[in-house]
Amino acid sequence: MAQLEVKNLSLSFGGIQALAGVSFTLSKGELLSIIGPNGAGKTTVFNCVNGIYKPDQGSICFRGHELIGKKPDKVAKLGIARTFQNIELFAQMTTLDNLLLGRHLRVKTGLFSGLIFTARVMREEIEHRRRVEEILDLLDLQFARDQLVAGLPYGIQKMVELGRALALEPDLLLLDEPFAGMNAEEKLDLVFRISDIRAEFGVSILLIEHDMHTVMSISDRVLALCEGREITCGPPDQVQRHPEVLRAYLGAEPNQERAADVPTT
Ligand SMILES: Nc1ncnc2c1ncn2[C@@H]1O[C@H](COP(=O)(O)OP(=O)(O)OP(=O)(O)O)[C@@H](O)[C@H]1O
Ligand SMILES: [Mg+2]
Repeated sequence: MAQLEVKNLSLSFGGIQALAGVSFTLSKGELLSIIGPNGAGKTTVFNCVNGIYKPDQGSICFRGHELIGKKPDKVAKLGIARTFQNIELFAQMTTLDNLLLGRHLRVKTGLFSGLIFTARVMREEIEHRRRVEEILDLLDLQFARDQLVAGLPYGIQKMVELGRALALEPDLLLLDEPFAGMNAEEKLDLVFRISDIRAEFGVSILLIEHDMHTVMSISDRVLALCEGREITCGPPDQVQRHPEVLRAYLGAEPNQERAADVPTT
């Protein structure tokens, strides 16, 4: 059974039909990339999944729970974490504190018992710290642990944002253009880290990405959108050769010669 099942998702903003009947599924542990030209509706899919937007139509079922109508904090509690196209961190806080904040949604202790420093609260606090240190190690962020996020280079801030999402210990991770603004070396590094994250946490991933090389190297399946509709969905090598993907996404006429130009890995 699919972990996430999105059916017939539609949403318009005034005259703009951002999504027009998008459907897809995601299995546990799978990585599905969403590609498409600017304005295709990729980020809108994420905003519907995590409760920022309420679609006009459709359903989003995550491990048996309907997500439509749930607020972002409820969606997060169900185990869905996200990074944003434009980094959203507390810039005037340290890396460590940003990650610890990412964990606050997991806190099991109620407000009242949280006020009294019980043994249980202390155990939870120790566990939070331990998990956060593990994530700092996994992402090689120990050097930035006590630095304010505002002073860190852009690529490192993106890594901190990924760390904060992981701190929630999600079952599903939504990554909106995590490779944007990175050079080739940084991209390769992040590809390896994402595969470490999958191995370590068994997390399912929805990834929005423009760079075809990266998409091809990292995805189990690819969903191509254009103007709010699905063009095709399937294995990366099939999707990259789909004539409409070539036309809509790469701006190329669909012919054999052009298809051969598209990077494979
Ligand atoms: N809050 C909003 N109000 C009005 N229009 C919106 C809103 N959010 C998205 N849209 C419109 O919906 C369409 C899809 O936008 P979306 O951000 O999902 O595209 P995208 O595929 O993520 O593009 P990009 O690659 O540029 O990030 C666009 O036409 C966009 O202008
Ligand atoms: Mg977007």
